[in-house]
Amino acid sequence: MSGHNVWTHKGTFLLAAVGSAVGLGNLWRFPYLTGENGGGAFILVYALTIFAVGIPILIAEIMLGRTSRQSPIMGMRHLTKTHQTSRAWETIGWLGAASAFLILSFYSVVAGWSLHYTWQMLSGSLAGADAETINAGFSHLLASPGLMTLYHTLFIALSALIVGLGIHKGIEAGLRIIMPALFVILLVVLGYSVVNGDIGAAARFLFTFNIADLSLEGWLQAMGQSFFTLSLGMGAIMAYGAYMSSDASLTRTALSVAFVDTAVALVAGLAIFALVFGAGLETGQGPGLMFVTLPMAFAEMPFGALVGGVFFILVLGAALSSSISLIEPVAAFLVERFDLTRPQAVTIMVIASWTLGLLTVVSFNVWAEGTIFHALFGRSAFEFIELLTNIFMPLGGLLIALFAGWALTQSEVAKELGGHDTWFRVWRFLVRFIAPAAVAFVFLRTLPQVEGYWIPAIGAVVIVGAFAAGRTFMANSARP
Ligand code: PFF
Repeated sequence: MSGHNVWTHKGTFLLAAVGSAVGLGNLWRFPYLTGENGGGAFILVYALTIFAVGIPILIAEIMLGRTSRQSPIMGMRHLTKTHQTSRAWETIGWLGAASAFLILSFYSVVAGWSLHYTWQMLSGSLAGADAETINAGFSHLLASPGLMTLYHTLFIALSALIVGLGIHKGIEAGLRIIMPALFVILLVVLGYSVVNGDIGAAARFLFTFNIADLSLEGWLQAMGQSFFTLSLGMGAIMAYGAYMSSDASLTRTALSVAFVDTAVALVAGLAIFALVFGAGLETGQGPGLMFVTLPMAFAEMPFGALVGGVFFILVLGAALSSSISLIEPVAAFLVERFDLTRPQAVTIMVIASWTLGLLTVVSFNVWAEGTIFHALFGRSAFEFIELLTNIFMPLGGLLIALFAGWALTQSEVAKELGGHDTWFRVWRFLVRFIAPAAVAFVFLRTLPQVEGYWIPAIGAVVIVGAFAAGRTFMANSARP
């Protein structure tokens, strides 16, 4: 490729990767999963997975992007040629593109709820409201396909606008405004929760590690969450990595992304639980934690409507900086492969994902039951899409680890990692053995949730993958 795009500054990749990583996963999913799974024990497993599996795969994914310097699909196609491996490895790119497309479809709907709550808070209509009113408000939102579609449309259009403007004028420029603002807002919300909430109770809840509190299901969720929160296995990081300066340190950058992402999740968790405990509310409310429990807490606190509004702006900004990273890998592919202009490529990706998002919208109301998805898969369309991403994500991560661990040559990897010998060995051991084993474990545990006739289909994918891995291994063992 001639003159491939590179970020304007050496540090922009870090900004972009943090933007992708920090999102609904940190502010919404992490706190509610922690709340449902007994607090500290969940966090312990989550942190262990981030270190043993998340960071090595994060490094692997950036490496694949930076060495190929193309979108995930074309990049993997290129790497399979230069490394004389099976074409089947291109699956990494396709899985990533498919997951990005699926995730964006429901991510935008949930981000749309934050748009609704930003408005509700700032207009003061929730100030002083009682629990019943707030509960009814959320139910009303979920029962209104029109309203949800409106917010979904606004959110996805804004994301498309940013990506459509290009990686410099759109993504970089957007992130330079969004990310510092998010940081400031997070600190404001933390300060507010220290003053008005019960931060001691929140800290005890988050940092009391009692491993017996954690079910096997909780373990799996913690591992799944560590993937989701680092944006792994979806091509987003690979696509951004393709624009990363060759001078930036891969290891230091990956560690910083993981550190900031974890710190944001913990700070958000502290602030949210401080408010929840301060208001004497329940922690285990599931997905409603942010949209029902938290508004209840804000409703009874001084300036709650204002700070609540600012909090939901934080959620929106974080979601926006993540959703653009879901559009980029697919849009870049369409530009590279079909010579489309960037606006055309973004429009195609976003319209397709928007349309699929309508399935999530109706899953909460008119299609809440009795659909073909319920008949075939025993779940709503939204839950089915989520399940698919829960399968694709670890599968993508597994293949990325295997490819980077076994197919990339020793000299290539050593160069990418900056020539630290011990670290090279540790990293290679983690991506070759530990990460694949851990991911395979999560994956096998997810399978029982899947209906019978899916198992042969997934089995076939795994066999093809194993075959490709085997061939690569054989080919690679002959090379330095
Ligand atoms: N990491 C994002 C979050 O925690 O909200 C979600 C996400 C964004 C996942 C981009 C995957 C991705 F490619």
